[in-house]
Amino acid sequence: MSALGHPRFVYESISSTMDRLADLAAEGSPEGTVVVAREQTAGRGRAGRVWIAPPGTSLLMSVLLRPNMPASALGPLPLIAGLATAEGIESLLDPGFTSSIRLKWPNDLYLGGGKIGGILMQSRSAAGLVEFVNLGIGINVNLDADSLPAGALSLSVESGTTWSLDVIEQAILKRLSNRYRGFCGTENTEWLAEWHDRALYLGENVRIDDHGMSAEGKFIGVTSSGALLLETAEGRQEIVAGDLVRGPRPA
Ligand code: BTN
Repeated sequence: MSALGHPRFVYESISSTMDRLADLAAEGSPEGTVVVAREQTAGRGRAGRVWIAPPGTSLLMSVLLRPNMPASALGPLPLIAGLATAEGIESLLDPGFTSSIRLKWPNDLYLGGGKIGGILMQSRSAAGLVEFVNLGIGINVNLDADSLPAGALSLSVESGTTWSLDVIEQAILKRLSNRYRGFCGTENTEWLAEWHDRALYLGENVRIDDHGMSAEGKFIGVTSSGALLLETAEGRQEIVAGDLVRGPRPA
């Protein structure tokens, strides 16, 4: 398996890197293909949300993966991708920079108390086997404080420097290539301990909101298949989707 990032397509403005990469995947583009956009006119986030970024300020990319496995084995991949993304960005931070990038289940990246990025994974399978995975990564890089949505931060605001989008892209792809190789191999649980080390709200009382349903309890970890483990009043629950929120539901 070679490093991810080739072939690479860069667009000044497109609807979404997810759309373009899905087209390329359907046309037979190889594993490792990357689509990068400087602006998206219809950027997408998780759970049907929009992903908005002023032109030229953010890393907006999709990566094509073709893991040879059942679709049911893909659960941990978004978490592993979040971990690799955090590691890639952190490898560029000044050694004197003390905060580390935290991960909010399932795959949000936090720095200095605000969200700096997120991962959107979509996949297509046939007869239960993965045909391709479209891994979308969005990072708030050079956004100034006035352009950030509520609860969000950018690398430039947190670090006080302007960043090269290409350098961040390469650092993330390098870590993602390594982590993806581990995911496809036999020793594919080595990511768990490192994910837990970065987990936001671990050990705290949280709730998971999912399409009007809500579960409350103590966040005690994630499983090797990427599910969140919640200790509730009724016992332990494995949660596979939803938005993690700190604290109980407001009365
Ligand atoms: C989230 O936190 O909701 C996930 C956000 C993912 C955004 C990225 S930007 C590049 C790729 N193209 C999209 O339209 N979305 C993903």
